[in-house]
Amino acid sequence: MDLMALPKAELHVHLEGTLEPDLLLALARKNQVEVPYSSRDAVLAAYQFGSLDAFLKLYYAGMAVLRTPADFTALAEAYFDKVASQGVRHAELFFDPQAHQDKGLAFVDILQGIEEGCRRARAKHGISSLLIPCILRHLDEASALRLVDEMLPHKDRFVAVGLDSSEKGRPPSLFVKAFQRIRDAGIKTVAHAGEEGPADYMRQAIDLLGVSRIDHGVRILEDAALTREVARAGIPLTVCPVCNVRLGVFGSLEQHHLPRLIEAGLAVTIHSDDPAYIQSYIGDNYVACANTLGIADSTLKTIARRSFQASFLPEPERARLAALVP
Ligand code: ADE
Ligand code: ZN
Repeated sequence: MDLMALPKAELHVHLEGTLEPDLLLALARKNQVEVPYSSRDAVLAAYQFGSLDAFLKLYYAGMAVLRTPADFTALAEAYFDKVASQGVRHAELFFDPQAHQDKGLAFVDILQGIEEGCRRARAKHGISSLLIPCILRHLDEASALRLVDEMLPHKDRFVAVGLDSSEKGRPPSLFVKAFQRIRDAGIKTVAHAGEEGPADYMRQAIDLLGVSRIDHGVRILEDAALTREVARAGIPLTVCPVCNVRLGVFGSLEQHHLPRLIEAGLAVTIHSDDPAYIQSYIGDNYVACANTLGIADSTLKTIARRSFQASFLPEPERARLAALVP
C-alpha cells in the first residue's frame, strides 16, 4: 500500500517544529538574527537530542528567527506544501504564543500570520486546518493566565488550547485555573502527557483539565487501570513514534510501545510532532511503523480513518474525510 498517499489527518504537529533548516537560515538573514549555523548540514548536525529538554533548548532557540506575521505565514505555507505529498487532508497546528512574547509579537499577530498560511494551503492543496495555541508548562500559572486573557477575545479563531513543553516536574495540576477559564469559554482542551512524565499526568490531564485528546500518552501502560479506562472512553492518544525515539523516550523504534498500545484497544493515531527537527513527517512515520514495527496495512488504514474521527472538525466533515481512506 502507498502509505504516503493514504489520506490522513495530522493532529500532533508544532508549527514551530516545522521550521526547516533552509527557512531558518533564510529568515535569520532577512531578520538579521544571529544563529550558530552557516549551512543546512550544520543545522542538521546540531540536531542530536537525547531528551525532551535537550530538544526544547534548540527548538526555542530556532524560534528566534520568527519575527513578523509574514514569517509565520511562510512557515505554515512551507509546511503545507511539504505534507500535501504525504496524504495530509486536514491538520490541527499547535503553536506556542508565550515563546514569541519577548520579541514583541502579540497573540493576534501570530494568529493572523498563521491563518494566512492556512488559507493558502486550502486554496493550493485543498487541505483544511484548525489551530491549537498551547500553554508552555515550564512557565508559571500567572503567565498562562495572562495568555488566556489575551487569547479569549479571539476564541472563534482557534479550536482548542493545549499544554506542552518540558513535562517532568510540571504536572497538569499546576494549570487547572487557566484550563478552567478556557473550558468555561466553551473551548476544547488537549495536553501533552505521558511523553516523559508519568501516567499520573495523563490522569490529571483527563480529570483536571478535561482534555478531549492526550498528546503522546505512551507511558500509559504503566497504569493498567488507566489504560482500561482510556481505552473504554475512546480518548485518542496522538502518538509520534519517530520523534519519541529521537527524544530518547524509547531506545529504538523496535522498542516503541505502539503495538502494545494498539493491542490494549487504545484509540491511537500516528503523527510527527516536530518534523523539521526530526526530519520525519507524518507519512514518514506511517512508513516507519509499517517497516520497523510491522504494523499491518489494515491497522494503518484504521488509524488513518481514526485520525479524521479524532479531529475537531464538525461531524459531517469528519465522516467525509474518513470515507476517503480505502
Ligand atoms: N513542544 C514541541 N515539541 C514538544 C514535545 N515533543 N513535547 C512537549 N512539548 C513540545
Ligand atoms: Zn508535541
